[in-house]
Amino acid sequence: MRATAKAHTNIALIKYWGKRNEAIILPTNNSLSLTLDGYYTTTTVEFDNSLSKDQFMLDEQTVFGEQYDRVTSFLDIIRQMAGKQVYAQVTSINEVPTAAGFASSASGFAALAAAGSKAIGLHLSDQELSRLTRRGSGSACRSIYGGFAEWEMGMREDGTDSYAVPIAPADYWDIRVAAVVLSATKKSVSSREGMRRTVETSAFFQGWLDSVAHDLAEIKQGIDVRDFQKVGEIAEANCLKMHATTLGAQPPFTYWHDTTLVVMQKIWEMRSRSIPVYFTIDAGPNVKVLYLPEHETHVQQTLRNIPGVTDVRLSKPGRGITYI
Ligand code: PMV
Repeated sequence: MRATAKAHTNIALIKYWGKRNEAIILPTNNSLSLTLDGYYTTTTVEFDNSLSKDQFMLDEQTVFGEQYDRVTSFLDIIRQMAGKQVYAQVTSINEVPTAAGFASSASGFAALAAAGSKAIGLHLSDQELSRLTRRGSGSACRSIYGGFAEWEMGMREDGTDSYAVPIAPADYWDIRVAAVVLSATKKSVSSREGMRRTVETSAFFQGWLDSVAHDLAEIKQGIDVRDFQKVGEIAEANCLKMHATTLGAQPPFTYWHDTTLVVMQKIWEMRSRSIPVYFTIDAGPNVKVLYLPEHETHVQQTLRNIPGVTDVRLSKPGRGITYI
């Protein structure tokens, strides 16, 4: 009744932005991501008949409140699937800076789903595991796989056809991602609230939705032939369209800080000097920079020298779920 799993976070190159069903987390569009080796969560789940409620330790601290509730609600889904009413001790170690635009929820829920389902005795396929993981956090369903993965939104309203599929494994292509850390402060609008507000009120939401199919088809072609310029251009444009929807929402909001823009301009400036670098940004102020290994030293130095940048952390493509 005990299992340990390790899952890496992922960065979306085509963003998931908008839900059509909040309760079981069904998206309004397909998304595509790269799993990263630098950020991961290791989680042990032990179901124990002597427990009278779930317990959750994160980075050696007992967790209460909203974070605890999300974990127990997710364990309820696992218990229901297994037909067993037994509580669990969950112990997680996060190698991800939390809530600053790094999807710690992605590695967190992927590791919890893998360890929890295995510990309770469910034998899930990758597809079933991805579908389960989606219920914890949408973007997490892509972290089941290493390398590039696509989350297919599905057509059914029961969610049975909404899960991620692998596109290319971690060793397919050595693309690098520099995570530019700007501030350790928590983001002001959660991705859940941000999506809800955008779907309900943004004048630009339909434009965003209408553009995704094209971006997805193009980026998949780029990945197929390892065309870095194409993949970078599409990823950056897709990110900018997603962030534009927040400005058209009521009340309007943005995840960007002043230094976010400074970093974006620095990327454009490097490109004007023929250095192939592109950025993408999730629901937070930090910027992720895509580059190729031969430019690593230059990219890292340039980013580190920007005032307001506190850290630059480098990643390669990461693997999918592993059991320890
Ligand atoms: O899965 P969530 O609720 O953390 O939402 C993630 C949303 C973005 O990071 C902005 C985009 C994505 O596809 O990961």
